[in-house]
Amino acid sequence: MSDRPVPDAIERILLDDVDIATRVRELAAQISADYSTTDDLVLIGVLKGAFIFMADLTRHLTVPHRVDFIALSSYNRGADSRGAVRMIMDTRINVTGRDVLVVEDILDTGHTLDYLLRIFRARQPASLRSCVLLSKPDRRRVDVPVDYTGFTISDEWVVGYGLDYADRYRTLPYLAALKPEVYEKA
Ligand code: IMP
Ligand code: MG
Repeated sequence: MSDRPVPDAIERILLDDVDIATRVRELAAQISADYSTTDDLVLIGVLKGAFIFMADLTRHLTVPHRVDFIALSSYNRGADSRGAVRMIMDTRINVTGRDVLVVEDILDTGHTLDYLLRIFRARQPASLRSCVLLSKPDRRRVDVPVDYTGFTISDEWVVGYGLDYADRYRTLPYLAALKPEVYEKA
């Protein structure tokens, strides 16, 4: 575990570095098995939230693959997130005819993943799947298909391991719940 002090805004640690590493290795094994017959797998990480998950997941894959990234506009909790999803940076690899796996940090209402899958489906990949580290099913508003889920959590604001609150706490090596007073007063 790191020597970094736990910030005051943290309520409690939900998943520590060992919990996360164990689950990420399991997901990588499952993905490696499922894609064992293709040599044209492209993983697309959604910036910024998925950058650490993507780095750890891909280093445990045992099948050939390439990585690319897409960046979306930030998301405001409270505000209606529909229509708030906007692409800031597109991928550089042309996904047409390739096996695409979208890698997201967290599935909340589902609007973001729904938007991403629509975009990529329109580009006619050979296959299209999604992988999320976390899922908050209680918050779902759009029924969106997910092929790989790391952990299912309750409705709390989570930070660390890539996830932020107002762009802070992203590089904490664990996943933690933020104190509700921190995000509720915003
Ligand atoms: P959705 O479109 O409502 O599913 O929201 C997905 C996006 O909202 C994620 O990619 C995150 O950027 C953000 N998000 C939702 N919940 C959390 C959270 O608990 N912590 C950090 N980011 C979150
Ligand atoms: Mg995100």
